[in-house]
Amino acid sequence: MDLGHMRKNYLRDQEAFEEEHLASLDPIKQFAAWFEEASRCPEVGEANAMCLATCTRDGKPSARMLLLKGFGKDGFNFFTNFESRKGKELDSNPFASLVFYWEPLSRQYLRKKNEEVHKLYLEQEVPKPEYWGGYVLYPEVIEFWQGQTNRLHDRIVFRRLQPEEAQIGPMTHRGVDDWFYERLSP
Ligand SMILES: Cc1cc2nc3c(=O)[nH]c(=O)nc-3n(C[C@H](O)[C@H](O)[C@H](O)COP(=O)(O)O)c2cc1C
Repeated sequence: MDLGHMRKNYLRDQEAFEEEHLASLDPIKQFAAWFEEASRCPEVGEANAMCLATCTRDGKPSARMLLLKGFGKDGFNFFTNFESRKGKELDSNPFASLVFYWEPLSRQYLRKKNEEVHKLYLEQEVPKPEYWGGYVLYPEVIEFWQGQTNRLHDRIVFRRLQPEEAQIGPMTHRGVDDWFYERLSP
């Protein structure tokens, strides 16, 4: 199936995302502004869905969809099964993720086992497996991308830099704290 022609129309040049449209020079606050907008948009089914891509030391990449559980100045947090499973523990207890873990199984077995464990853990807390944990991602780079129909897409990238390592040319601007931002070519 050739999908080469599939391309949605993005925004018009008059609706470009200009530096003066930034809701904040703190990229976490800018993210919050876009996130709130996306959450209110009925066309965006799960605004908190995110993709986490990781790579092993020998270069094998893997990526999985997750739900973002929260964010703020101390980072972004989420839960995943993913391979190392040695995340910082966070305060959430999604029952099925604790009870079932990476077993090849049938749907029928899953239903039966679900009933059993619900009875078993009716009055006691589900013990957390030793590998259980969440992750906090401390961002160093955050890009805000807005598609333009004429393909002059907007890319405003924030980087967290120590002032001595920041090369502040005419196209690099200071954000809040140790954030610097610049526009990249589309
Ligand atoms: C929208 C969406 C949200 C998801 N949220 C989570 C999540 O928060 N945590 C999780 O462990 N898996 C979640 N999943 C399932 C994982 O993406 C999927 O099971 C993945 O393959 C697990 O990755 P792993 O095998 O590398 O651990 C979600 C899937 C989708 C489509």
